[in-house]
Amino acid sequence: MATGENMLDAEALMKAASAAAGQAYAPYSRAMVGCALISGSGNLYRGCNVENASFGLTICAERNAIFAGVAAEGAGFRIARLAVIARGLEFPPCGACRQVIAEFADADVLVCFMSGGRIETMMLRELLPAGFKFELI
Ligand code: THU
Repeated sequence: MATGENMLDAEALMKAASAAAGQAYAPYSRAMVGCALISGSGNLYRGCNVENASFGLTICAERNAIFAGVAAEGAGFRIARLAVIARGLEFPPCGACRQVIAEFADADVLVCFMSGGRIETMMLRELLPAGFKFELI
């Protein structure tokens, strides 16, 4: 948990994500990815990507951060803000992670990522305008 910083601030959250990227296990892609999020309860959770020799078993940094939040807070876990950063790469969360973010976040939640050397912030509804919902008809 960071102290003395407003972790809802995009730069502070990016710093926490960057520290998490240092923990990445990425011997195959060499892409060191880190994610930091603030939960609805105000707690900070971090995650890094963890790869596997069976490539499809790899888990992204965002999902690891989210699952750490659920493990700590239980089914009431919600995302207030999320940031992702990689070393030497720039990208918004992948499609799979957008869907998982949507499970725990309102459509207006802000997602921060690097683009063109600066922090880009987009609402979840912009990143995932038509996500899957489990609604029986
Ligand atoms: N990766 C993430 O951690 N988050 C994303 O949103 C996209 C990709 C990781 C997975 C893999 O370890 C590496 O980046 C290259 O795809």
